[in-house]
This record gives sequence, C-alpha cells and structure tokens, in this order.
Amino acid sequence: MGFLHSLLLALCLVLNLVFVCNGGRTSTFVRKVEKTIDMPLDSDVFDVPSGYNAPQQVHITQGDHVGKAVIVSWVTEDEPGSNAVRYWSKNSKQKRLAKGKIVTYRFFNYTSGFIHHTTIRNLEYNTKYYYEVGLGNTTRQFWFTTPPEIGPDVPYTFGLIGDLGQSYDSNKTLSHYELNPTKGQTVLFVGDLSYADNYPNHDNVRWDTWGRFAERSVAYQPWIWTVGNHELDFAPEIGETKPFKPYSHRYRTPYKASQSTSPFWYSIKRASAHIIVLASYSAYGKYTPQYKWLEQELPKVNRTETPWLIVLMHSPWYNSYNYHYMEGESMRVMYEPWFVKYKVDVVYAGHVHAYERSERVSNVAYNVVNGICTPIKDQSAPVYITIGDGGNLEGLATNMTEPQPEYSAYREASFGHAIFDIKNRTHAHYSWHRNQDGYSVEADSHWFFNRFWHPVDDSTTHVSH
Ligand SMILES: *[C@@H]1O[C@H](CO)[C@@H](O)[C@H](O)[C@H]1NC(C)=O
Ligand SMILES: *[C@@H]1O[C@H](CO)[C@@H](O)[C@H](O)[C@H]1NC(C)=O
Ligand SMILES: *[C@@H]1O[C@H](CO)[C@@H](O)[C@H](O)[C@H]1NC(C)=O
Ligand SMILES: *[C@@H]1O[C@H](CO)[C@@H](O)[C@H](O)[C@H]1NC(C)=O
Ligand SMILES: *[C@@H]1O[C@H](CO)[C@@H](O)[C@H](O)[C@H]1NC(C)=O
Ligand SMILES: *[C@@H]1O[C@H](CO)[C@@H](O)[C@H](O)[C@H]1NC(C)=O
Ligand SMILES: [Fe+2]
Repeated sequence: MGFLHSLLLALCLVLNLVFVCNGGRTSTFVRKVEKTIDMPLDSDVFDVPSGYNAPQQVHITQGDHVGKAVIVSWVTEDEPGSNAVRYWSKNSKQKRLAKGKIVTYRFFNYTSGFIHHTTIRNLEYNTKYYYEVGLGNTTRQFWFTTPPEIGPDVPYTFGLIGDLGQSYDSNKTLSHYELNPTKGQTVLFVGDLSYADNYPNHDNVRWDTWGRFAERSVAYQPWIWTVGNHELDFAPEIGETKPFKPYSHRYRTPYKASQSTSPFWYSIKRASAHIIVLASYSAYGKYTPQYKWLEQELPKVNRTETPWLIVLMHSPWYNSYNYHYMEGESMRVMYEPWFVKYKVDVVYAGHVHAYERSERVSNVAYNVVNGICTPIKDQSAPVYITIGDGGNLEGLATNMTEPQPEYSAYREASFGHAIFDIKNRTHAHYSWHRNQDGYSVEADSHWFFNRFWHPVDDSTTHVSH
C-alpha cells in the first residue's frame, strides 16, 4: 500500500510537471507603474457642447430584439426642450420624427438634467441613418449604421470594453478602440461605467462627465450595457437606498423585447450573434426572476439563425487574480451546467482590472459529497474572458494567484480592449489590444471555432488528454 501510494504520488508529480510546462501563459509584459488618475473636470473630453440647451451625453443602444430599433438618449440642462429625434436614411430625403420620454432624478444634493430616451423603430437593416436631437434650440446631428439582417453567416465585429471610468487611461483605451484598424461596429460593455461612486457623495457630476466623454463613440454606434457594481450607487449613509438609481435613469436596455422583467438582464440578436446579458448584482438563485428568465431564454437560442452564443456579465467566474477572487462563484454554481448544455461560445466579464483568457473549461460535477471540484477541459464549455481593463481610477490588478491555474490560457495586467470579429458560422477571430502598443498590434489572439457548427478543439495550450 505504502509503495503504491508513493508511486501514485510520484506519477501525479510528473503529470503535474507536464501540465505546468504546457499550461497557460502569464505575459512577461510589465506595464510602467504609474498612477491611474481621473481627467480633471476642465478636460477637453468633458467639454459641454455650446449653444442654448444643447443636447449632451448622447448615447445609443439596440432598441429591440433583432436590431431594427435604436434607443437614443441625451441630456439637456437648461430646460426639457424637445424630446423628439429627427432621423432619415442616407438614401432617402424623407425625414421622420420619433418622440420619447424625459426623466429626472435627485441623488443626495445633486439634481440631474433632463434625461431623454427616444426609441426609433422599424429601421431598415444595414443602412446608415442620420439623426438630430435638440430640435428647436441647439440641434446636434449624429449618425449610426444598423446591423445587417440576422443570419448564420453574417460577418460582424464587436468591440469589448469593461470597467472604463474616466481616467487618462480610460481615454487611451477608447482612443485605441476607435483607431483599431479592425473597426468595431458595436461595443459589448461589461459593466462599471463612470466610477462616480468613488467621489464624495457619489458626486453625480461624474456621471455627466462620463456621458460627455463616451459620446464620441456611443453616439455613433450602440453600446450594449451590462450592469456592474459601480452602477449600484447604494449609499444609505446619505439616504440613497434605491440601488442603480443614476444608472437606471440614464441608460436604457431593450429588456422587454426578450420577455425580461428587468432592465439588468436581457438578450438581443445582432447579425449572427445571440447575446445574453446577465446581472451579477441582482438575485440569480433558483426561483428568482433572473433564474427563470435564463432558464426560458437558453432553449430559445436558435443556432441555425444565430450561431454565436455570447454571454456578458460583470463578475467573472474564472479569474486567477487576487482581486475579487471567487466573487463570481455562486453564480457559476447556479448557471454553469446550462452554459455547457447549451454550448455557449464565449463569456465576457469585467470587474477585475486586468486581462485574462481561459481555456474551454467546466466545473460542474461537484455535488457536495463527491469531492469532484476541479475545473476540467471541456469542449462544450465556453471560453471565459476577463476584460475589466478599461483603465478606471482604481488602477490595475497586478497580483495573480500562483502558479497560474491550468484553465488560464493567458493573463496580463495591462489596460486595453478586445475585438470579437465574426467571419461566418464557424470562425471568429478574437484579439486583445493593450494600450501601450500600436493600434493594430494583437497582444493576445485566438481563433474561435463555433461550438454548434464547428466544435473542434480550439484550445491554445495543448495539454495531452
Ligand atoms: C453637495 O454637498 C457637498 C458636501 O456638503 C458640497 O460640497 C457640494 O457643493 C454640494 N453640491 C450641491 C450641488 O449643492
Ligand atoms: C428654444 O426653443 C423653443 C421652442 O422652439 C423656443 O420657444 C425658445 O424661444 C427657444 N429658446 C432660445 C433661447 O432659443
Ligand atoms: C483624449 O483622447 C483624445 C483622442 O485621442 C484626445 O484628443 C484628447 O486630447 C484626450 N484628452 C485627454 C484629457 O487626455
Ligand atoms: C431556427 O431558425 C431557422 C432559420 O431562420 C428557421 O428555419 C427555424 O425554423 C428556426 N427553428 C426554430 C425552432 O424556431
Ligand atoms: C497578493 O495577494 C495575496 C493573497 O491575497 C497576498 O497574500 C499577497 O501579500 C499579495 N501580494 C502583494 C505583493 O500584494
Ligand atoms: C469561414 O471563415 C474562415 C476564416 O475566415 C475561413 O477559413 C472559412 O473558409 C470560412 N468558411 C466558409 C464556409 O466560408
Ligand atoms: Fe466591478
């Protein structure tokens, strides 16, 4: 027995060694240590547009389930002004009007401007539209392009940004995304927008500055919103006890179109992708609205129509940094078996201010008594990507668990963004871009093979199995 035991132990050690040799990579790139500081209030990116009651903080997001509607939002400061959007397609002279709603809110001693939300519907696919807001006084013009009609082989390029904030590094991340030669058409934003809650009394002026900063991208292409912990703004010490108050008034999602009962979890279809957005900070246990919604949502995903199944959430399930370690664990326990069953292609999360890409792994065998609780390679499982490296004032997460876990394919503590470039129903090219590099440099990249149409092994660190 004793001998056999030692032999087994030795064998394990050898196997372990093999695994370490073939395991993931911790990047050797070390970012210059410098403080991450917010851009001051008088920065160019926060300039208030000139003119009486000029619309500011203009932002758009998908407005229905299939990509034929857009929600246009903006803020006016002097008076409510017109809540209409005038819009027309590039090829037509006929201008239309859509009317929306105006909301305001108070937070401690801050009073918001007039926040407008107007949904434009029945748009043509694959068409450039111009739109104007601020009708009657200072009118500002923008444009967007609708996605192509949904279909299995429709190429489409998503950008990925998380935990952006409004520091000088945030500005670099956004600039690198804009100047990436692979042009993102829609941003999948994985939560934590303004970081206003890091200011005294959650100074909501920093929600306004963030809105003006992000406008240069989000007024022209939709950002798909995921809610993060910095959207909670739960501050009982100053009498603010309604979670998500500033975020909910300012940012809208088309949740009703996917039969969701909450703006924080919903789905959209866009081109060849079905995107499910989950809420890390809303109840997700059994019997909760989010659980019931997801249980009904997953069987609806039609891979013949939308081959790519993408999930967004804020708190990552697989994260090997010593920050927010295991915070996503209880949601993983609830939903991971479904992700494997329905063959989710990729899960994007933020929260940890660094970058990490996992292998396809799952950890669903544990049942409290059987002790089977180690992640294993699983070709039916998603790749998990942490992209919380937008550059907010809290700085980088640099402390990693050692040794690097087997499931972790690549990790690096740098700010940046990523691109998920769908080519057809079988292939998508993914790349991660750190802010220190030239715009076209791919610091990490991966060919995704679709789990439904082309489920061949696409792992990057080939451990013998
Ligand atoms: C809100 O209260 C803070 C702290 O008392 C103060 O510094 C700030 O000027 C006030 N802001 C407004 C808009 O009254
Ligand atoms: C703003 O627009 C309204 C409605 O068109 C108009 O009545 C008002 O005079 C305008 N105000 C200014 C300062 O231009
Ligand atoms: C932010 O980036 C833009 C585009 O690169 C640049 O024009 C602007 O000056 C930057 N602002 C600050 C405060 O860094
Ligand atoms: C899935 O989508 C395809 C292509 O649009 C369609 O032909 C098929 O009927 C759909 N399947 C279901 C179950 O709705
Ligand atoms: C990294 O995190 C571990 C675990 O929390 C902690 O013990 C260690 O002191 C940290 N290292 C540094 C350099 O902060
Ligand atoms: C799908 O895209 C990949 C990568 O561009 C390409 O190699 C492959 O031939 C394409 N498949 C089809 C059927 O066109
Ligand atoms: Fe976060």
